[in-house]
Amino acid sequence: MAFPKIRMRRLRSTSAMRRLVRQTSLSIDDLVYPLFVRDGQRLKEPIKSMTDCFHFSPDTVAAEAAEVASLGIPAVLLFGLPGKKDETGSEAWAEAGVVQRSIKEIKKAATELLVITDVCLCAYTEHGHCGMIKDGKIDNDSTCELLAKMALSHAQAGADIVAPSDMMDGRVSYIRQTLEQNGFHGTAIMSYAAKFASAFYGPFRDAVESAPSFGDRKSYQMDPANSDQAMAEIALDIEEGADIVMVKPALPYLDIICRARQRFDCPIAAYNVSGEYMMLNSAAQAGLLDKGPAMLEMLTAIKRAGADIIISYFAKDVAKRI
Ligand code: PBG
Repeated sequence: MAFPKIRMRRLRSTSAMRRLVRQTSLSIDDLVYPLFVRDGQRLKEPIKSMTDCFHFSPDTVAAEAAEVASLGIPAVLLFGLPGKKDETGSEAWAEAGVVQRSIKEIKKAATELLVITDVCLCAYTEHGHCGMIKDGKIDNDSTCELLAKMALSHAQAGADIVAPSDMMDGRVSYIRQTLEQNGFHGTAIMSYAAKFASAFYGPFRDAVESAPSFGDRKSYQMDPANSDQAMAEIALDIEEGADIVMVKPALPYLDIICRARQRFDCPIAAYNVSGEYMMLNSAAQAGLLDKGPAMLEMLTAIKRAGADIIISYFAKDVAKRI
């Protein structure tokens, strides 16, 4: 008879006891904070669809990045909203593009902070798709060439890590070869390896005006119902040269994070996306949830599932609380 020899509550009796046996602790070192930059000057405009998030311009994002660094957060992830969109998304690889200029400003203001850049065309194309359109379909290989150009221009501007989020086949390989050929041996690739066609990206698409003008992203992003395919995607990205692989979104996909952790040895990132962020914010605003503890519980769960790196709009807030 186990009871009373075993009483599980003994190890939960006090705060010190709970600390002693705690298996997972969230650390500031795990966090990445996303930042949105758009063309302009002296901008700090609230993003309507995302509480406490702002559009910065290249001049103002530097101060924000410095604040992020002063909180001890090791990295930011940059998203750009170009002045003008076109058919191919050409602003994406422009030397004076909004992300390229922002990287340089951030590097001056916060030398130790890692700059990660999102590599994808959806915010730069008129149609809002992540790739080139040929005969009404998203063309894989021509998209990869442009993504490689975009990644290279980010590396040239000083990005430490490039993060392709488009889900084209072979893009990591194209990017890795392009970086190597141009001497950027040290630029890391964090691939959005298992990225699902999720309804949880809604608030983000409003923020960067990237909702596709026709159709959806289901021919390139993964079907939420699949798990084995996620393992295949991750394995391929590692083979092609990814240093870090990502699962996205995070909360509805904890099982994928957990499987990936057991199977692969490289660092695993999880993206706590805009919809997850706003779900909690909206509930807190409606007085239904206590935001602080709920956000810590959310991020702890993502870490417990096996994520080494957590990308979250809560990062600054969490860093102040732990
Ligand atoms: C670009 C991209 C998206 C997100 C990150 N990179 C949107 C999408 O794929 O539609 C979503 C991030 C978020 O929701 O917080 N492809």
